Amino acid sequence: MTIITKQAATGEPQLTYASIEPLLWENGLAPEPMRLHCNELPFDIPQAIKQQIAEKMAQLAWNRYPDFYNTELTALLAAHSKVHPDQVVPGNGSSQLIQQLIGCFSKIMSLAIIEKPTFTFYHQVCDNEQLAYQEWELTREGKHDLSTFPQLAEPALIILTSPNNPTGTTLPLSDLQCLLDQHPESIFIVDEAYAEFGGDTAQELIEQYPNLIVLKTLSKGYGMPGIRFGYALGSKPVMQLLKKHTVPFTINIFTELIVRELLTNPAFGLALQQNRERVKNLRDFVHYLLNDLAVRGDFTVHASAANFLLLRFQDPGLLEHVRTMLAARRILVGYPMPMCLRLTIGDEAQMNLVVRLIKQAIDTRNGAGIPGDHKQIVRNNPR
Ligand SMILES: Cc1ncc(COP(=O)(O)O)c(C=O)c1O
Repeated sequence: MTIITKQAATGEPQLTYASIEPLLWENGLAPEPMRLHCNELPFDIPQAIKQQIAEKMAQLAWNRYPDFYNTELTALLAAHSKVHPDQVVPGNGSSQLIQQLIGCFSKIMSLAIIEKPTFTFYHQVCDNEQLAYQEWELTREGKHDLSTFPQLAEPALIILTSPNNPTGTTLPLSDLQCLLDQHPESIFIVDEAYAEFGGDTAQELIEQYPNLIVLKTLSKGYGMPGIRFGYALGSKPVMQLLKKHTVPFTINIFTELIVRELLTNPAFGLALQQNRERVKNLRDFVHYLLNDLAVRGDFTVHASAANFLLLRFQDPGLLEHVRTMLAARRILVGYPMPMCLRLTIGDEAQMNLVVRLIKQAIDTRNGAGIPGDHKQIVRNNPR
């Protein structure tokens, strides 16, 4: 097999992902991709619960539209969230609600504030809706520094994410409250996509601040991105306004059934909670292991309140080397910003392999140098 290499400035041949991937495919060496790049849970819903729901799906009237007002579903979500049903707007995943919210408020505001870094979909939707945005830069540790919050000359749409993606860090409720007190004319969206994994929820502030909207999803902490369900909580007038921008029937009858089951069948909720707890324990253990590897100063890793960890590398060569080794095993991770790698917490075996590969990448980079034969990487790391 011919190995394509890139010549480094030192003259040392370097492996790159681009050089290795086609060779692995050609030679049938590429394993199944390991999905550690989009913050999914590694564990699915128990088969018995799926089966029960599937039987109920067969009883539904597929020839009818869903309930236009989602009355029963909204009442259940309101009871679950301890708010009035008029304070709930369900959506087809929180992405759809983000689009709906930004679409709605871009008509009455001309500026959004978003964190830097943050979930990239906000940039896309603001651009599409022609809503200018200013960025509130987080500290290197991913913390919020209130003294650097942009000066506002007019009310703005302020979008905050806690825990934040990609840093995994959280916005303390006291800081949020401080901002809410300072900007009563602005609209605040707090995206809590990862809040089931850690951090405070801003839900309890909704009654006090009519300009606050909290976004929830079943995609992360509940491990069901496939069913596409999220909901917004806020004051009645703001939710009323948001509803005017709803596309009819965004929630299909199958999704509605699954969410109703989740909210009424304790065994379903418990199964998801167990999955979540397992991931939280693994996250803390992987954080501990990576921190141990990080003592030599090659990279840092933030404590995370979400289901992923962000590694920040000091040396671009080492990051490229890690990237090559992971890619050679078809391990997909995120590279959300320069010099950073975002690792979704997978199952025990997956995490064991990834930590070993990162250690091996550091060892080979620092010690014996980068191996010149990619086959060695494959041979040394049986799946
Ligand atoms: C911060 C944040 N918000 C919202 C979403 C969208 O989630 P969904 O549309 O699946 O509810 C994501 C997805 O990764 C996210 O990271």
